[in-house]
Amino acid sequence: MKTFNIALIPGDGIGPEVVAEGVKVLKAIEKLDSSISFTFTMFPWGCEYYIDNGKMMDDDGIDKLKTFDAIYLGAVGYPGVPDHISLWDLLLRIRKEFDQYVNLRPVTLLNQSLTPLKSKMEKDIDFLVIRENSEGEYAGAGERLFKGNQEEVVLQTGVFTRKGTERIIRYAYEEASKSNRTLTSISKGNALNYSMVFWDEVFDEIGKEYPDVKTYSYLVDAASLYFVTDPKKFEVVVTSNLFGDILTDLGAALTGGLGLATGANINPEKDFPSMFEPVHGSAPDIAGKGIANPIAAIWSVSQMLDFFGEKEWGEAVLSCIKDMLKETMQLTPDLGGSASTGEVGDRFVELLNEYA
Ligand code: NAI
Ligand code: MG
Repeated sequence: MKTFNIALIPGDGIGPEVVAEGVKVLKAIEKLDSSISFTFTMFPWGCEYYIDNGKMMDDDGIDKLKTFDAIYLGAVGYPGVPDHISLWDLLLRIRKEFDQYVNLRPVTLLNQSLTPLKSKMEKDIDFLVIRENSEGEYAGAGERLFKGNQEEVVLQTGVFTRKGTERIIRYAYEEASKSNRTLTSISKGNALNYSMVFWDEVFDEIGKEYPDVKTYSYLVDAASLYFVTDPKKFEVVVTSNLFGDILTDLGAALTGGLGLATGANINPEKDFPSMFEPVHGSAPDIAGKGIANPIAAIWSVSQMLDFFGEKEWGEAVLSCIKDMLKETMQLTPDLGGSASTGEVGDRFVELLNEYA
């Protein structure tokens, strides 16, 4: 019997509503497969917790999370708590302390009706973006001098270490090599004459270890254009933290929007837990109404199962999402249906039972 210990951080707004449906799916899998079991431990952290306790998580929160196999996070963010506090004191803190330096964002069209691109089909949009998740412009390095004065100077430094750049690029080559796909690096060596020239050099250097992988390299501006005009070009993509943040939201727009987009924060060495989360935020405008779309959170479950090495279950979940998307009326209002969050989860479990 394999047991996976999962820490739940449902967070704020619709976070708890969608995480509940993901947990429903995991519990259904546990019932269907006698060789797998999950434990769930809930942590009530987030912005609402901050309002009551003056902190986003317990002081020893990182220690408490350390021993889990995975963290399943809903969303954090609540009116009245500045977004930079919720981001830096919980999400980014976990990503950094647990060295989750790989961010995996599938850009996969699961149903043709979901893309705003005319005449693009499922087979045309199916790639994986691997975003550097620990440094670059998001390292938190910089300076703000002479605040408020006419002479004010603000520096936001992009930090690119050899270790950090090599490891993300090597991870991407491994992924492309083992899945027999092409690898595209997205950078900006013409304008960012230090950081991105270095990135491009490392991309070429590591490439020598992977002569079997066919590579491409695009400037980020051109790549954004190709995402829209010719997404079929891309199979595995590797890019920096800032570019990856922007490009993956563009990718989400091509494949159905926030109700479907998912992301995994991975520590490949498994020294620390990895974290799985829908990409959307806490959606205060619809929180508490029972209409949040749980499919992004369920897709996160699929990524988690892949990470656990349970690839068949990961695929089963993805395949049931595809089936689910064919039944428009059984979906939440954002996808044109009239179902509640809980009804989508229940219907999903029915489909999973039929599939298994
Ligand atoms: P948001 O993703 O919460 O909402 C944007 C729009 O998409 C809203 O109209 C919302 O109703 C809709 N939406 C989002 N998820 C949906 C779902 N599952 N089903 C149906 N509709 C959905 O982004 P917004 O409004 O910019 O941010 C709200 C709060 O969430 C802020 O405090 C922000 O900081 C936080 N946030 C947290 C993130 C995280 O925890 N990873 C990521 C993004 C934002
Ligand atoms: Mg983002």
